Amino acid sequence: MFAVYADQFSTDDPLSGLVVGERPDPVAPDGWTTVTVRAASLNHHDLWSLRGVGLKQEALPMILGCDAAGLDEDSNEVVVHAVISDPDWAGDETFDPRRSLLSERHQGTFADRVVVPRRNVVPKPSSLSFEEAACLPTAWLTAYRMLFTQGGLRAGDSVLVQGAGGGVATALIVLARAAGLRVLATSRDESKRARALEIGAHEVYESNARLPRKVDAVMETVGRATWSHSIRALRPGGAIVISGTTSGPQLDDAELTRIFFLQLRVIGSTMGTRAELASLVELLDATGTRPLVDRVLPMTDAREGFAAMAEGDVFGKIVFTR
Ligand SMILES: NC(=O)c1ccc[n+]([C@@H]2O[C@H](COP(=O)([O-])OP(=O)(O)OC[C@H]3O[C@@H](n4cnc5c(N)ncnc54)[C@H](OP(=O)(O)O)[C@@H]3O)[C@@H](O)[C@H]2O)c1
Repeated sequence: MFAVYADQFSTDDPLSGLVVGERPDPVAPDGWTTVTVRAASLNHHDLWSLRGVGLKQEALPMILGCDAAGLDEDSNEVVVHAVISDPDWAGDETFDPRRSLLSERHQGTFADRVVVPRRNVVPKPSSLSFEEAACLPTAWLTAYRMLFTQGGLRAGDSVLVQGAGGGVATALIVLARAAGLRVLATSRDESKRARALEIGAHEVYESNARLPRKVDAVMETVGRATWSHSIRALRPGGAIVISGTTSGPQLDDAELTRIFFLQLRVIGSTMGTRAELASLVELLDATGTRPLVDRVLPMTDAREGFAAMAEGDVFGKIVFTR
């Protein structure tokens, strides 16, 4: 079958290990199902994979892609949940120490077909297109859990979203606005700040600019480049929810004094549960809110999408179609 996969790693030139070609048809083990992929979306995770982060040499060649929407074996329209937990695991699967994301241990979604445990498909409402639904399982699910589960935010609270252009960040802005939060956002880029206003931010600022007021919570995916600013943006007792470190994990100043003195909470967040994915799908169906798609490309042009993400030339999600 057609597939987009990694056959080697390179830290400096991740695209050198990307192959657009053919891989054997997958075989669904007992309890698993085959999904025919109609659309899949790109995440920063796929670039990390090409750099050898989160993916082992012995797992190569590995079909990339965590997110997909498509048709199950009975032609039902479904969204694929990307977190694969141990079959014996009960409860919140993001806490399963043996969990993995599609494309880490099991072949990913940038292909004609992907096999997943039966419990890893969620019905897709007809109101969502395959392209829109394919944006949800990683970036949008991550944003949902950051805001509402880990952040515990409610209508009327205020939130700062760092790095407005990213896949997770745009999801955070749109979802926060849909849920009745006051949304502040930062970006290095003026045009991305303008677009952040269009998609729901109430106020936008240059990255690391002084803010006129403190916020209840900060949603952090940028890491090193914005950490200090995030801590300084919080009201006493506020929370920083972190799910990524795009600019690097090492800090010049962790702001530990502010953290204890202002009794701030630092909360990690990783992906989300199947139940949260189902709630996210329901939220979009009920509110008419839609994922922000930067561009749609045929999967055969996947390299173009990877290159755009590597250059940071993205606002919203890059979607591949079959
Ligand atoms: N834990 C999880 O479950 C989970 C799930 C999904 C993603 N993630 C992680 O979250 C991060 C974001 O993922 P993504 O797919 O949204 O990536 P992305 O689409 O590439 O977005 C990254 C954003 O970070 C900002 N940024 C990058 N370098 C910066 C710098 N030096 N200074 C200020 N801002 C900078 C940019 O914002 P501007 O250009 O607007 O400034 C950019 O739009 C990644 O590290 C990813 O691994 C984690």
